[in-house]
Amino acid sequence: MIPEGLSIRCATLADVPAIESLIATSAHGLGARDYTRAQIEGALRGAFGVDTQLLKDGSYFVAQLSGELAGCVGWSFRRTLFGGDARADRDPQRLDPRTDAAKIRAFFVHPAHARRGIGAALLERCEAEARAHGFRRFELMATLPGVRLYAARGYLPGEPIHWPLPNGLTIEFVPMSKEDGGWQKPTP
Ligand SMILES: CC(C)(COP(=O)(O)OP(=O)(O)OC[C@H]1O[C@@H](n2cnc3c(N)ncnc32)[C@H](O)[C@@H]1OP(=O)(O)O)[C@@H](O)C(=O)NCCC(=O)NCCS
Repeated sequence: MIPEGLSIRCATLADVPAIESLIATSAHGLGARDYTRAQIEGALRGAFGVDTQLLKDGSYFVAQLSGELAGCVGWSFRRTLFGGDARADRDPQRLDPRTDAAKIRAFFVHPAHARRGIGAALLERCEAEARAHGFRRFELMATLPGVRLYAARGYLPGEPIHWPLPNGLTIEFVPMSKEDGGWQKPTP
């Protein structure tokens, strides 16, 4: 059930400082079960972060509860699979919805509001927006905390990767994907 008072709106560039702060709080607060503090610090220097291209594209969203930022996520019709502005090798090439999968990007919920359905609501919003642009497949690079949400929403995992971080460590991520028609919501 979605928390009462939740609203989801398109993010603007003015939201970027608050989103960056939310990302750090979320990664540390909800990532500590799966990653070390040093891994999270390293990931916050590129792998986790805002890609302002998505905000300019109108495809990044924030969830607010009683006016407070509670979550953020984006989807993209561009080739880059993950990473914020600090990742120099992002690829802005546009995807073809007939053959390519839309990317689900930079997904973070505030620890104070975890497990209340905000993640699922944000994911549904992104999938709906991508569908409205003709996409029928979705893919993302999941963190280990993210795998639990995406698996519950019908995404299938690929081979895990060990992504090199700027502080010399690596972090485990899992590529995941979903295709419309390939999964039905289980009936209770
Ligand atoms: C992953 C994340 C976005 C999930 O957000 P959330 O709002 O807590 O997720 P929801 O409450 O919508 O969860 C929906 C379902 O996903 C599954 N799920 C989500 N988090 C889970 C967890 N920690 N353990 C087990 N299942 C989980 C459950 O099936 C859940 O349904 P339920 O609560 O009715 O059992 C959040 O944990 C987060 O921000 N993590 C840190 C940042 C991160 O790693 N982001 C992912 C980037 S790819």
